[in-house]
Amino acid sequence: MPLVPIMSLAHRGEIIMATRARWLGHSCLWIETDGHKLLVDPFLTGNPKAAASAGELDPDYIFVSHGHGDHVGDTVMIAKRTGATVICNYEISQWLGERGVKAHGMQHGGGFQFPFGRVKLTLAFHGSALPDGANGGNPCGFHWFFKDGSRVYDAADTGLFGDMSLIGEAGVDMAFLPIGDNYTMGPDDALRAVKLLKPTTVVPIHYDTFGLIEQNAAAWAASVSSQTATKPVVLQPGEWAVVK
Ligand code: NI
Ligand code: MN
Repeated sequence: MPLVPIMSLAHRGEIIMATRARWLGHSCLWIETDGHKLLVDPFLTGNPKAAASAGELDPDYIFVSHGHGDHVGDTVMIAKRTGATVICNYEISQWLGERGVKAHGMQHGGGFQFPFGRVKLTLAFHGSALPDGANGGNPCGFHWFFKDGSRVYDAADTGLFGDMSLIGEAGVDMAFLPIGDNYTMGPDDALRAVKLLKPTTVVPIHYDTFGLIEQNAAAWAASVSSQTATKPVVLQPGEWAVVK
């Protein structure tokens, strides 16, 4: 689909661009908000489901949820080419800094106001070793509060945890949840996560990239529709969803 900006009139009389997200396959997201371009977990090279190549993306900011190769992916190459700032945990920010990448380190529970809005690092239960075996700190998810008032939560790689209800209390318009099982929540726990988070819409990620995490996303979406008030949106890699 062409990159046509979506305009919306927000409060305070400013024209603020609406927020929309594109799934690039696996856990890789492209988010556009108020003219800013955000790239999340850019595993493109070597990703059989990648809907873009690393060389064609020009993000302002890159988010890395944890140190695993299917999330760090092409971060170093894209960040060095574009000058994008990488937002991630402190340990990964140090590792990226040693590789000549501009990185902003944070930690869980901490938030920061960036030009695109505020982002807070959330808990995630998973591993985070970097591709070379270096300590990647603890894995995280991201909770964004954009300038148009929209709130997006990417759980990234995690199992189910009860404190998702606290994230839900802070408000989630669109949630990205893994459903692949084996390494993360599977469909059953992702459904329980929807019940804790109560997002307006939910998009499944981290499935069907390879055999071990194949899932029936349509069946999962049907269970979300029948058991919750949340609207499931199943994307094909490359497809867009308007957040709000
Ligand atoms: Ni992982
Ligand atoms: Mn992963």
